[in-house]
Amino acid sequence: MKKIRNMANVDGVITPVGEARIPVMDRGFLYGDSVYEVFRTYGGIPLFFDEHWERFENSARLIHLRLHPGKREMMEEIRRTFRASGAGEAGEDVYVRYCVTRGEGPVDLYPAPELPTRYVIVVKELAHWRDDFYSEGVRLAISRTRRNPINALNPNIKGGNYLNNVLGVIEARELGADDCVMLNDAGLVTESSNSNVFFVIDGELVTPSENAGHLRGLTRVALQEACSAHDLPIVTRDIPLEEAARATESFITSATREVMPVRSLTLRHGSAVEFPEGGGNLTRQAMAHYKDFVERYLREHADQRLN
Ligand SMILES: Cc1ncc(COP(=O)(O)O)c(C=O)c1O
Repeated sequence: MKKIRNMANVDGVITPVGEARIPVMDRGFLYGDSVYEVFRTYGGIPLFFDEHWERFENSARLIHLRLHPGKREMMEEIRRTFRASGAGEAGEDVYVRYCVTRGEGPVDLYPAPELPTRYVIVVKELAHWRDDFYSEGVRLAISRTRRNPINALNPNIKGGNYLNNVLGVIEARELGADDCVMLNDAGLVTESSNSNVFFVIDGELVTPSENAGHLRGLTRVALQEACSAHDLPIVTRDIPLEEAARATESFITSATREVMPVRSLTLRHGSAVEFPEGGGNLTRQAMAHYKDFVERYLREHADQRLN
């Protein structure tokens, strides 16, 4: 069976990922001055391409970046990169990351509005999450580092500066967990390092409200729609740490993880809350509803297939 090649596309030039280059004076490299999106394919069909583009435009707006190229051209360049990867013939699904940086300029924090932006697309094999993350669950820990406040670096900017989240996950690993849960300044739960978080509290499925400060995850949005269609409401509200500490189930969501059960949550004073192995009843229902939702989406968007 043919294997796929991990490929990059820098401003239209497609090469193997290891050979792709950007100039060291690119503001994306110097300052994290860029925005990006990640989606995965299923049978060659991008999941939620339109929704990703909408979020991309929102991130660009929040950092005052004029997006170039437009949606149609970006889709075409993603398609070319996908073809160069051989994923279609190999029958493999891929991880797609597209990014626009503010380009190169003099060393000056102020970005001159006339700077030509740069785009980078990466098409590579999908990361394979550890099997036990699904059969048992992922282990989370509350990090000491708080999530960036909305009025400092809005978590809805999906940008090239992920240091806040990097610090969170480093601390979680030091605590023996796989990933973190970050609180905001008021002690409310926000999200994990690159996924959204859900709990079952008093029998109710809950997830943090947006004003706690987290990225508007597209898996989260899809899951809310999928669950509400099955009369399984997801309540969006403030979740203080003390409430998360008495949750009976938990899971996280992201494009590449889908719905992943949480096995335990280590609290800052060292104790841990344990959740059912492989996910409790509501977690399993959420997993099934999401799977059905994705299957229906793919049937309805077969014309967006990349190969
Ligand atoms: C900070 C953060 N939160 C949540 C998510 C989940 O978003 P999505 O479901 O769109 O993948 C991501 C995804 O990368 C993320 O980076």
